[in-house]
Amino acid sequence: MKMGKIIAVHSYKGGTGKTLLSVNLAATFAKHGKKVCLFDLDFRAPSLFAILKAENSEYWLNDYLNGNCGIEKVLIDLSNRIQGKDNFHVALANPATEAIRDMSAKDRKWEMRALGKLLSLRNVLLGEQKFDYLVFDTSPGLQYSSINAIVTADFVVVATTGDRSDVNGTKRMLREMYNLFEKKTGLVINKVLDSASKSKKDEMNTRVKNVYQAPLLALVPCFCEILRAEGNLIFAQDKPTHPFTQILDEMAKKIEANEVN
Ligand SMILES: Nc1ncnc2c1ncn2[C@@H]1O[C@H](COP(=O)(O)OP(=O)(O)OP(=O)(O)O)[C@@H](O)[C@H]1O
Ligand SMILES: [Mg+2]
Repeated sequence: MKMGKIIAVHSYKGGTGKTLLSVNLAATFAKHGKKVCLFDLDFRAPSLFAILKAENSEYWLNDYLNGNCGIEKVLIDLSNRIQGKDNFHVALANPATEAIRDMSAKDRKWEMRALGKLLSLRNVLLGEQKFDYLVFDTSPGLQYSSINAIVTADFVVVATTGDRSDVNGTKRMLREMYNLFEKKTGLVINKVLDSASKSKKDEMNTRVKNVYQAPLLALVPCFCEILRAEGNLIFAQDKPTHPFTQILDEMAKKIEANEVN
């Protein structure tokens, strides 16, 4: 039987769209009938609790990684938010100030144990509970928690914008870090301006080929509607005909077909 996959969404810089892409990619998989769990592994700035309006969790991923509870206590069934049955779950990072401070003070030994806990999700959630996809939203850059997420993942969605300050860092991560861990990657160039113009598309495709030398998963235009929604909408679910939803559909299909290598 085919085993499920772990997808980490990562970037060099902050604000490249990791959280937006994680939520919507997970929702798209669920729409396609897959059983999905979305993880907030950004302990530095938890945000999924707010986007998914699940603020009163009793147990958080922090508790699981600290060894204070099993993963089943952390998972929240939000299937009612997405069409389809029993297929959309989330595991949230604790947004309390003490929890954020506590997580930023962890030592190497703790991080090693946390890596073991993340790796064991493969057996428990993909194996026993038959999840098709775990989607990890991460912190930007080379923090320990992000490296742990990447090591655990089968596939890394690398989000980047056209911004000059992001290009070299992203290039280095593609060449050094993901390669070091032998991870499959797919690049998303996000917030592309003038995306309808052919010269812009050509420029981006040339950059992908010459600079990043990584498979391109999607070019995502900058959409005013996304900013206007202020994080209140899951486009993949709430705006079925929006072009962003169509791009997500194609992205999810590429990953499902294992086309990206
Ligand atoms: N294609 C897009 N068009 C318009 N706005 C976008 C697009 N992608 C992301 N945004 C907006 O950019 C902001 C940052 O996005 P998001 O929070 O998903 O980034 P992030 O990489 O998770 O940030 P962080 O590194 O801080 O966690 C949000 O306000 C989001 O709505
Ligand atoms: Mg984020």
